[in-house]
Amino acid sequence: MYIVSDILIRTAFEGLRDSMSEIITVKDLVEVYSDGTKAIQRISFDVDEGQFFGFLGPNGAGKSTTIKVLTTLLRKTSGAVTVAGYDLDKDPKEIRKLIGVQSQETVVDGDLTGKENMILQGNLHQMRGRSLEERVDELLKLVELSDVAKKRAAFYSGGMKKRLDLASALVHRPKLLFLDEPTTGLDPQSRATMWTYLGKLNKDEGITIFLTTQYMEEADKLCRQVSIIDRGQIVASGSPSELKQEIGADAITLSFAEDDERNGGAKAKARELLAAIPGVGNIVDSDSGMTVYAKDASSMIVDIVRAFDANQLHLSSINLSRPSLDDVFLKHTGHRIRTEELVKPPSGMRFRRGRR
Ligand SMILES: Nc1ncnc2c1ncn2[C@@H]1O[C@H](COP(=O)(O)OP(=O)(O)OP(=O)(O)O)[C@@H](O)[C@H]1O
Ligand SMILES: [Mg+2]
Repeated sequence: MYIVSDILIRTAFEGLRDSMSEIITVKDLVEVYSDGTKAIQRISFDVDEGQFFGFLGPNGAGKSTTIKVLTTLLRKTSGAVTVAGYDLDKDPKEIRKLIGVQSQETVVDGDLTGKENMILQGNLHQMRGRSLEERVDELLKLVELSDVAKKRAAFYSGGMKKRLDLASALVHRPKLLFLDEPTTGLDPQSRATMWTYLGKLNKDEGITIFLTTQYMEEADKLCRQVSIIDRGQIVASGSPSELKQEIGADAITLSFAEDDERNGGAKAKARELLAAIPGVGNIVDSDSGMTVYAKDASSMIVDIVRAFDANQLHLSSINLSRPSLDDVFLKHTGHRIRTEELVKPPSGMRFRRGRR
């Protein structure tokens, strides 16, 4: 009897701990807009408390729609969602108290100074007086806007506005932060600065971050867990390294000089030639050519070029790279998340080596 009750208590405790560790649970979420657009088609995922979670996908994938639903701005069509332990339908007010949101469009009021923008945010969360002032000053310091705090936000650069937006989302000390493409449109330096702040917030302050991005490098660098979304469906989930390991090989991207038809069905011919080269693994067609996966791809390049030359298959470029999240995306969707700029030589073919 004693043993049985001990097991029961332990099981109940573990169940409780599991449900406590998930700060977001999404089960079979569907979102259909009033014009009939099926933006989200039955997605399910969980985010653990303290996680830096990335929602990675191209334009129109459904990232903002998902964020709008989870942050109570948009009513879901169907599915079950909890955020910060509360049911989305039953307790939206409680959820709003615990989350911070930086939406995709900057919502800075240009007529107010940076500091006034933040004070206003605090007021919306019933914060007032000295403690609000202190919190605002602390955050302006974090995002390095203290020097321009008294300047009208209309005169801020794009990167400064994004930083002000981020700081505004943090005024009421949310435990969960939603960031919808916080670095899109920023120059590389501003993006790197933003990454530093986000890393600090997650690591030092323990804030759970739900970040959407179109940048694979960003998800790879910042996030410990990612879900990749395309056309309203999650196509892969895991840690960036798990997902890349799944590819298990280097990638050789081949682009053909002419389109497939004018090249006499180049892809089919290429597949045949590649299959005869020892060590060639998976071959996936892409828009302008194909990607070949192989364990030791560099040793294979010469064989490929020779075989193609001998069969009058004209390549415009070859690119050798280590697996990236883009390869994960390609493997699951058959297309790339972003059109890649391959080196286009004036004539013939050039070979570029590097990381995408
Ligand atoms: N209010 C709306 N009414 C109808 N369709 C919409 C609406 N908002 C978005 N959509 C459509 O829903 C789909 C998902 O859009 P969403 O904005 O969620 O994509 P996204 O992943 O955030 O893209 P982006 O990276 O461009 O911001 C798209 O097909 C989009 O055109
Ligand atoms: Mg969006």
